[in-house]
Amino acid sequence: MASPPNYFDDQVALDYDAEHINDDNLDTTITRLTELADKGTALELAIGTGRVALPLRAAGIEVSGIELSEPMIAQLRHKPGGKHIHIVTGDMASAQVNRAFNLVFLVFNTICNLTTQEQQVRCFQNAADHLKPGGRFVIETFVPPIRRLAADVDKLAFDVSDTHWGIDEYDLASQNFTSHHLWVRGETSVRRSIPFRFVWPCELDLMARLAGMELENRWEDWDKKPFTAKSNRHVSVWRKI
Ligand SMILES: C[S@@+](CC[C@H](N)C(=O)[O-])C[C@H]1O[C@@H](n2cnc3c(N)ncnc32)[C@H](O)[C@@H]1O
Repeated sequence: MASPPNYFDDQVALDYDAEHINDDNLDTTITRLTELADKGTALELAIGTGRVALPLRAAGIEVSGIELSEPMIAQLRHKPGGKHIHIVTGDMASAQVNRAFNLVFLVFNTICNLTTQEQQVRCFQNAADHLKPGGRFVIETFVPPIRRLAADVDKLAFDVSDTHWGIDEYDLASQNFTSHHLWVRGETSVRRSIPFRFVWPCELDLMARLAGMELENRWEDWDKKPFTAKSNRHVSVWRKI
């Protein structure tokens, strides 16, 4: 199976922390993941620059990772503790770490970086293959914002500021969408478009069942706020049967 394209190149990796590390919910994320790992071992799929993995390790969890992008891994390696995390370079839908964990997790909407249903199904199977019996798989992602699309409209602006414009363009038939970005940096501008596949919570539950896991909890956020019809995102927890 060919490796998927890597949109996280040197420049994206360099800018990533400045754009994403100021995460107000990070402490709660770490507390919840520590509980869900039963204070044991964890594998982060798409570990990136270690935004979550490094504080989780500092909280006492032994963390490993799978990651496609060498430049993202290089950023992680430069940080305190970064050299001590075991990382396999490869596709989270197929790469093997060859051991079983208490917890496997995939956060920050990254399930959507797999752009076909087949890849997402294989990712669930790969997560289950890395879990001990009774271990947990956790996904944090958004509920597809389709109800915000007016009739015959296929684009939604998600950010308009002095330095960044972001527009998502949807294909409802395939569940694919492309995030178009325009960043303004002084006198220059950078344009970038990245493909994704959105996925419904109930579709994720079916993928989990196919992989031998069942839903244990679904919250709106890491604080365990109840998930309702109004929730626009979710943290879902499945257990390996
Ligand atoms: C939005 S970042 C999230 C990084 C990190 N988990 C975090 O929360 O900050 C998405 C990451 O997914 C990685 N990625 C994308 N597709 C992947 C794949 N098929 N297999 C492994 N990693 C992948 C990218 O290289 C990038 O590091």
